[in-house]
Amino acid sequence: MIARGIMLGPNQPMILHLLDIAPATEALNGVKMELPDAAFPLLKDITETCKDVNIAIMLGGFPRKEGMERKDMMSKNVPIYKEQASALEEHAASDCKVLVVANPANTNALILKEFAPSIPEKNITCLTRLDHNRALSQIAERIKVYVTDVKNVIIWGNHSSTQYPEANHATVTSINGERPVKELDTDDLWLKNEFINTVQQRGTAIIKARKASSVLSAASAPCDHMLDWVLGTPKGIWLSMGAYFDGSYGIPKDIIYSFPVKCEKGKWSIVKGLKIDEFSRAKMDAIAKDLIDEKEVAHSCLN
Ligand code: LMR
Repeated sequence: MIARGIMLGPNQPMILHLLDIAPATEALNGVKMELPDAAFPLLKDITETCKDVNIAIMLGGFPRKEGMERKDMMSKNVPIYKEQASALEEHAASDCKVLVVANPANTNALILKEFAPSIPEKNITCLTRLDHNRALSQIAERIKVYVTDVKNVIIWGNHSSTQYPEANHATVTSINGERPVKELDTDDLWLKNEFINTVQQRGTAIIKARKASSVLSAASAPCDHMLDWVLGTPKGIWLSMGAYFDGSYGIPKDIIYSFPVKCEKGKWSIVKGLKIDEFSRAKMDAIAKDLIDEKEVAHSCLN
């Protein structure tokens, strides 16, 4: 997908730096043969070191198996992220944009931020675009419109089962113009229960069905995340991104938390001034507490 220009647009040549753990070396060699075989016009070189990388997509981590919660993975993944952070700190370009995908994504990103202090903190993000896309598609299915007709859902907080997918500000565009989802789906109970649960549990449902984590949607969402971050969000549209935020909406500063953002010229900014009702407030605060607890567990894993 990256070499085809899905992540950075059709005019951006690239060098792919590919790295995997030792047991996967042979498989990676196969990928390194296949990439040139595909004769991608944008792909100029393939290398291993992370010297001068401008974009780092952190997919690696111990995968979640059926029955495992994200916290179960922390003792395995947190040390990996500390080590990867040190490699990026030493070798990556000083303005490297980082996207952490592997779970627990928010906390892995936080550890990476702590151990790569020279990368600007705004450049370290984690993936909630997958959840954002899931939320868009759930609403499209429910209201019976195309997914492209729905915009501005929000994923607050954590890429985990405690995340809060919210559609209070989302709209649907049809021949009758743009209307709030809340007006079109008058069943508030669906938006407050089934919608939230389905998006929260989608990763788990996919693991149950496939006996393995999501792959296709989990590969596509990082491309969406990066494309919008680098090239900008279309006017009037926001996306969800986990990042080290500024205390907006009363969320503590020192965690990686997912918010609605707009992007322009390679920089993101928080969509401010959204009205937060009591229901949302309680959910948002609960996730912040969860992430603070997760951060403590992560630090204890390092110790
Ligand atoms: C997903 O949301 O599909 C994945 O994050 C699930 C997982 O834990 O691998």
